[in-house]
Amino acid sequence: MADNKLNAFAVLAKRKALESISDNVRPTKKAATKETNSIPKQLTQMQLSLGQKVQVQCKECGMDYVPSLAVDRKWHNIYHKHIVDGYDVESSFVQGHTKNVVYDVEGATDRIFYVDHTARSVQKRKAEDVLMVVQKELGAVPIPRKDLWSSQSIDPLQPPEYAAYMYIRGHRCIGFLLTQHISHAKRVLEPGPARKATEQPPSLEPAEQPLRISLQSFPAKLGISRIWTLASARKEGIALQLLDTALKHQNRRAERVRHELHVEKQDVAFSQPTEAGTRLARRWFGEAYGWKIYVD
Ligand SMILES: CC(C)(COP(=O)(O)OP(=O)(O)OC[C@H]1O[C@@H](n2cnc3c(N)ncnc32)[C@H](O)[C@@H]1OP(=O)(O)O)[C@@H](O)C(=O)NCCC(=O)NCCS
Ligand SMILES: [Zn+2]
Repeated sequence: MADNKLNAFAVLAKRKALESISDNVRPTKKAATKETNSIPKQLTQMQLSLGQKVQVQCKECGMDYVPSLAVDRKWHNIYHKHIVDGYDVESSFVQGHTKNVVYDVEGATDRIFYVDHTARSVQKRKAEDVLMVVQKELGAVPIPRKDLWSSQSIDPLQPPEYAAYMYIRGHRCIGFLLTQHISHAKRVLEPGPARKATEQPPSLEPAEQPLRISLQSFPAKLGISRIWTLASARKEGIALQLLDTALKHQNRRAERVRHELHVEKQDVAFSQPTEAGTRLARRWFGEAYGWKIYVD
């Protein structure tokens, strides 16, 4: 049953890329749109040639479907709920993997689950499904599944290349962070003299301005590869909590796991941040400039 749902979700999610949100203006992570566009175009043509089956696009979840077809309506309903309410990991995931809980809000059903290459395949699949939705929303180049969980071995003593932190409320994933092991990053520099004339406090520094990046690279340890919060749960502190939790969890691992590194905030770098990501980074680092960026 659970597998059917997952498969249905995977198929549906491939049907239509979400519209890019207005926050995501940085072009660097844009996937080529050619491939994603071609499938819906073909579908539209087929539906029209049949005469009566009109395909529509849901404004909220972005999925193309034919409302007069019961099967399309059913898949749309499932997909719509995943997008609007958060991906349903199901209660068995929440109850069955309590040892993966790395943050627990007292008196609430909010928890953060940690997933890496050593996790059970069901956990990895759920993390992959959420990542798929996140990457569509970001318009990011997808990270191939084989790279996601790659490691020299499944030795828990080896550091994972990527790790996922899933913020789950009840049994819906409403926040997601993918971290990556990195060694170098650039620094965000203060603007040149022309822009400096309009001096602003760091939190008000406009995030839509192009960031000035150092040519020189600096050592870094932990990459923020992807970070996302469900639209209806934004500005509650979920992304900040994910970042704090990842840092603390990494350092708890460093105390007991061979090869794991102790990480300070200054060792963290964001992968080409969006405008919203830049605002978040500035808030988390507590400074408008000086924090790090890397290309993944
Ligand atoms: C960027 C993103 C992850 C931020 O997620 P979020 O959960 O809303 O972030 P937080 O709530 O932790 O913090 C964001 C803001 O809410 C504020 N906030 C946090 N808790 C709050 C509370 N209880 N009440 C009021 N404001 C609060 C924070 O101070 C911060 O304010 P600022 O934007 O003015 O600096 C989210 O906007 C998103 O998913 N965007 C689309 C994907 C994306 O662009 N990702 C970034 C890739 S680099
Ligand atoms: Zn919909």
